[in-house]
Amino acid sequence: MKLKTELWYKVLAPRPAVLVSTVSKKGISNVAPFSFVMPASMEPPILAFASDPEHDTVRNIKETKDFVVNIPSKKILKNLWICAEEFDYGVSEFEKASLTEEKSQKVKSPRVKECIAFFECKLRDLIETGDHVLILGEVLVAEVKDEFYKKGYDIKKANPLLHIGGVKFTIPGEVLIAE
Ligand SMILES: Cc1cc2nc3c(=O)[nH]c(=O)nc-3n(C[C@H](O)[C@H](O)[C@H](O)COP(=O)(O)O)c2cc1C
Repeated sequence: MKLKTELWYKVLAPRPAVLVSTVSKKGISNVAPFSFVMPASMEPPILAFASDPEHDTVRNIKETKDFVVNIPSKKILKNLWICAEEFDYGVSEFEKASLTEEKSQKVKSPRVKECIAFFECKLRDLIETGDHVLILGEVLVAEVKDEFYKKGYDIKKANPLLHIGGVKFTIPGEVLIAE
């Protein structure tokens, strides 16, 4: 079946769902889900995600030049969904979605305590890409909770959320070995 070209990304799915947490220069925190996300360099470690330029997340990153990419699990799907609602600028989704702010090690933006893993990023570049802006961040600190990392990342235990589209999410099923 031929798709309208604007629908192509719907089949580039499921995509990892992340929570990007930021803080405004006045100190008000913000959390929002994103799935247009990818590694952009290993050395130096750079992560990229694309956002609608109108999002509060972008405004905060422009102001404070940092952000945290948090990996949510199945357990906090409902909380994540609340974070996607449009709240007035200055309203913290942490409170609205019953999530807990945790101090980061190297950036001003807080972490989302309930998540599996955290990547503290310093803004490196912001590039306009059509109707989105591509935000590139250098990963200054990367941390995963011990219980989910024994002999490598235990994806079965962690149950990271993957976004199919709209209200639909999934979690990793089988682990296949390519030998
Ligand atoms: C699972 C999921 C993934 C999303 N991915 C993106 C994305 O990659 N880029 C984007 O601009 N918005 C994305 N959104 C929409 C934003 O999260 C939503 O508009 C949010 O309210 C923006 O919050 P903010 O204005 O506080 O930054 C996504 C929403 C959901 C539920």
